[in-house]
Formats: sequence, structure tokens, C-alpha cells
Amino acid sequence: MTEGKRLAAEKAIEYVEDGMIVGVGTGSTVAYFIDALARIKDRIAGTVSSSVKSTEHLQSYGIDVLDLNETGPLSIYIDGADECDPNKFLIKGGGAALTREKILAEASEKFVCIIDPSKRVPVLGKFPLPIEVIPMAQSLVARAITKIGGDPRLREGVVTDNGNAILDVHGLQITDPLALEQSLNQIPGIVTVGLFARRPADIVIEGTEPPKVW
Ligand code: A5P
Repeated sequence: MTEGKRLAAEKAIEYVEDGMIVGVGTGSTVAYFIDALARIKDRIAGTVSSSVKSTEHLQSYGIDVLDLNETGPLSIYIDGADECDPNKFLIKGGGAALTREKILAEASEKFVCIIDPSKRVPVLGKFPLPIEVIPMAQSLVARAITKIGGDPRLREGVVTDNGNAILDVHGLQITDPLALEQSLNQIPGIVTVGLFARRPADIVIEGTEPPKVW
């Protein structure tokens, strides 16, 4: 699995062009990407980061981390996923960084998703769906999710970079990711649903030898 993550991350470097500002996701696969990016850091114009963790990693290599409000739209965003279906729809948020990740995916012309082969699934939902919620709405949101057949569990001891809580929703067979994302987005108190269907990946790199790109 670790090797699969590294292979996908190394391949993603080929999509980074000179002078680009690179959107950088979060997680163990992205950590390999940051290591690889450090080798070409003098060729890029900087990065925008999706989490405190990635920011610290980037800065440890002396890579500039810029403010999205200053950069405008990004050419490219590189991030991992917890699950990826054949439509390039994703579940993300296993690392609790889903809100900033969704913002960067939306701000980017091209979203390159890097995964090890275990992340590829026919139907999303085996991985519990992360949802970032405003703390005071935790119970309200949990009740609404139970009504649609999900089993929401609070991720204990986790506070997101935005000061919110994470509910992990078990037991969903997500046959229509777009509809589920849209309907969950209507519930007050939900900040971000870890379903990336409205804005899926554009390119998926699967860390096989050689890497599969689709
Ligand atoms: C972070 O919140 C997530 O969306 C990650 O992108 C996802 O969990 C993949 O993480 P790994 O690369 O560590 O598997």
C-alpha cells in the first residue's frame, strides 16, 4: 500500500509545470507528493495548502505556501482520496481536512487524484463518509443522517483546522453520490460533506507498476 502511494505521488509530479502554483492536499499519499515536489521546488511559483499538516511539511522544505485569496484560480490540485469510483467520484476526509480540500478542488482547473490500488471501488460507501459539522449542530445532523439510513459516529478527540467536529457515517451504499452530496448539503450545521461528486477528480493516478492513469 505504501509503495502504491509513493508510485502514484511520483507520477503526479509529471503534471506540475514550470511556474505553476500547486494546490496541495492532505494525507499520507500527499506526503510522498510533497517529498517529490521538494526536488523541483525552484521551478514552481509556490503552493496553496489544504491543512496545517501539509503547510508544515511544505515549509519544512522551504516551499512557499500562499493564500488562496491572493493567488486566484489554481492550474492544478493534487490530493489523495479514501475511495474512488469509476466516475472519479470520491470519498475524502479520512484526515479531517475535507473542507479546505473541497475549496482547493473547486478553485482548480485540474484535480489530479493520487491513490493506491486499494482505494478503487465499484460503489462508494464502505469507507465511512466523513462530514464536518458545526459543533452545536452535531446531534441535529446525526438525527437527520439516521433518518436516511446512515449510522453517524462522532470522531472522538478530533477538531478540524476550522474548529469543527467530524461525523463518520457508516452503513451507506452510495449509489447516487451526486444526489446524496446535494441533499446532505441542505442540512443546516453541515459545513462539508466528504463526497466529491459535484466536483470529482479530473485525472486519477493509481499507484501500480507502471502507474495507471485514467
Ligand atoms: C484528508 O482529509 C483526506 O481527504 C485524504 O486525502 C484521504 O484521507 C487520503 O489519505 P491517505 O493518502 O492518507 O490515504
